[in-house]
Formats: sequence, structure tokens, C-alpha cells
Amino acid sequence: MRFDAIMKVVVMLVIMLRHCNGLSMNYYMLSCPMAEFIVRNSVNSALRADPTLAAGLLRMHFHDCFIEGCDASILLDSTDDNTAEKDSPANLSLRGYEVIDDAKQQLENQCPGVVSCADIVAMAARDAVLFSAPGLIYDIPKGRKDGTRSKIEDTRNLPPPIFNSSELIKMFGQKGFTAQEMVALSGGHTLGVARCSAFKNRLKNFDSTHDVDPNMDTQFMKTLVKTCSAGDTAEQPFDATRNNFDNAYYRALQRQAGLLTSDQTLMTDPNTRPIVNAYAMNQAMFFFDFQRAMVKMGQLDVKETGQVRQNCRKIN
Ligand code: HEM
Ligand SMILES: *[C@@H]1O[C@H](CO)[C@@H](O)[C@H](O)[C@H]1NC(C)=O
Ligand SMILES: *[C@@H]1O[C@H](CO)[C@@H](O)[C@H](O)[C@H]1NC(C)=O
Repeated sequence: MRFDAIMKVVVMLVIMLRHCNGLSMNYYMLSCPMAEFIVRNSVNSALRADPTLAAGLLRMHFHDCFIEGCDASILLDSTDDNTAEKDSPANLSLRGYEVIDDAKQQLENQCPGVVSCADIVAMAARDAVLFSAPGLIYDIPKGRKDGTRSKIEDTRNLPPPIFNSSELIKMFGQKGFTAQEMVALSGGHTLGVARCSAFKNRLKNFDSTHDVDPNMDTQFMKTLVKTCSAGDTAEQPFDATRNNFDNAYYRALQRQAGLLTSDQTLMTDPNTRPIVNAYAMNQAMFFFDFQRAMVKMGQLDVKETGQVRQNCRKIN
């Protein structure tokens, strides 16, 4: 009996110690119990004022995790002797930094030095999705530490919009994702916009049908040509409901109205087409897979030791 009780305590201690170092759902339960609440509040009030920021916050988390792991490297400002990821051309349309700053400031007031910027980015992306898809609620593990490296040249690890399906499968595969997870994550494009510079490759010599991307609806092509007539920075929504997190993105792909080469290719490639069709038909299935893939993405190369930045824009 005695021995049993002692063993129980030992097992509990081992579990607790493991959670001290690794990521866990209730990481801030004792050290900053209001953490989730504070971040959700910052995100919700920012999105009520500007719902288009949801896209910015979601994309920020993706860019953060794909470069150097989810360590808030994306938030670091350039310094005199370092050009940060942020200042790469691939940063185009990254938005929402002030939402992270706002949450961080409140968290520093409540529990100084406890909640990492990397965790704030991960929670904010999750809350942005929840705001845009009421009902898509999921928990994410926390306990990431903030990194100290942010280099413009590392952004070459981001997938370019001209990638075809097999290149995307390969690049995401190197990060440990299946093709199905890649297609689910691409569904992040149900939010937001891209600029003409990201899709004009598909409109080359658009008045001669030969050079046009053959996998594009004619009417949609005319829309894009019109958008691009306003210049490289003109914005085009990925789908008809740019602020709603839904499966309209996949239905657009079925109509040959995907915006980027990397979007439409998921429908063109017979290997990924069945997944697109499944998500287009079944939004609940998309939500389920997306949520699981996001939890996985949120754990890419996380740092379990390191610093918690006081200001998300600079290392301590
Ligand atoms: C599959 C490979 C991917 C490629 C090639 C890609 C590429 C791009 C490009 C070129 C833009 C437009 C940038 C601009 O013109 O301003 C964009 C926007 C966006 N991306 Fe991706 N992306 C990919 C995956 C993802 C993933 C996995 C997510 C999140 C889960 C994501 C979320 C977003 C969002 C939300 C926007 C809209 C941003 C806004 O409106 O501010 N993307 N992406
Ligand atoms: C993105 O990078 C460009 C340089 O390529 C820079 O001028 C711009 O300020 C950056 N945008 C953000 C939001 O950091
Ligand atoms: C995708 O692109 C790669 C590299 O450009 C090329 O080798 C491959 O044939 C392309 N795949 C398809 C299905 O077009």
C-alpha cells in the first residue's frame, strides 16, 4: 500500500517535470492563468475593428513556423547589422504585428517574462481562425520559447506561389507533412488576398490564349486581368468570402478559379484532386484535418529552452 502511494507520487512528479520542459495544453495554468483569455481578447477586439487582419495573423504563424521553427523569428525587426525575415520580399502582406504587441504588453503587465512571443503568435492564429469560423474551436499546446535568429536569407524556405503540386508535396514532406495535410493547410487561403505580383505569371500575354494558364476559368481570368491592370500591388481575394473561414476555397478550385499556381495545382494533380473534392463537399472534414495539421505545424522545430522576449520585436 505504502509503496503504491509513493509510486503514484513519483509518476506524477515525472509527468509534471516532463511538462515543464515540453509543450503542453495547460502550460500557463499556474504561471499565467489568464494568458489564453488575454490573447483572445486582443485578437477579437482587433478583428472586430478590421476582420481582414485574421488572414494576416494566420499567415504570420505559417511563416514563423516554416522558417527556423515556431520561435517568433518573424517578429524581430531588422537591426543595423542584421536584415530580418520580415524585410524579405516574401513578407508581402504580412500584417497584424500590432495585435501581437498589444497582447504582449498586457501579458507583461499581468505576468512579466512568462508568455513567449512564439506562443502568442500560435494562439493568435488559432483565435483568428475561430473568429472567422465560429465553431472551429481547438486547443493548442504551449511552451515555445523565442528564438534569437532572424535572417532575410532564411525566407527561401518558404514555398513560392509558382510551385506545382509535386514540388509542394516535396517541400511540405521535408517538414514531415503528408500530401493531405499540405492540402488542408493550403486551405488557409480561404482567408485573405494575394497581390497581382503573386499570380501574374499565369496571365502572361493574356490576349493570346496559348500562354494563358490552361487550368483557369475564362471568366476568372478576365477578373484577374482587370485586377492586375491596377498594378502589381492590386489585391485579389482567394475566394468569394475573404473574411470567412470556410471551404469556399476548395469549391473555387473545382471551378478552375484558384488564385495562385500553387492553389489550382492541387486540383490539377490527380494525386491531390480527391482531397480537394472531399474538402469541397465536406466542410466538417476540412475543419477536422485543418485543425490537426495546424497543431502539427505549430510544433515545427519548437525551442523548449531559450528566452521569453520582453518586447516581441527585439531579443532581450
Ligand atoms: C502551400 C504553399 C503556400 C504558398 C505557395 C503560399 C503563398 C502565398 C502568397 C503568394 C500569398 C499572397 C501574398 C501577397 O501577394 O500579398 C499568400 C497569402 C496568404 N497565405 Fe499563403 N501560401 C502557402 C501556404 C499557406 C499556409 C499553410 C497558410 C496558413 C495555414 C497560408 C495562409 C495565407 C493567408 C491567410 C494569406 C492571406 C494574407 C492576407 O490577406 O493578408 N498560406 N500565400
Ligand atoms: C517587407 O519587406 C519590404 C522590403 O522587401 C519592406 O520595405 C517592408 O517594410 C516590409 N514589410 C513589413 C510589414 O515589415
Ligand atoms: C513540377 O515542377 C517540376 C520542377 O519544375 C517538374 O520537374 C515537374 O515535372 C512538375 N510536375 C508537374 C506535374 O507538372
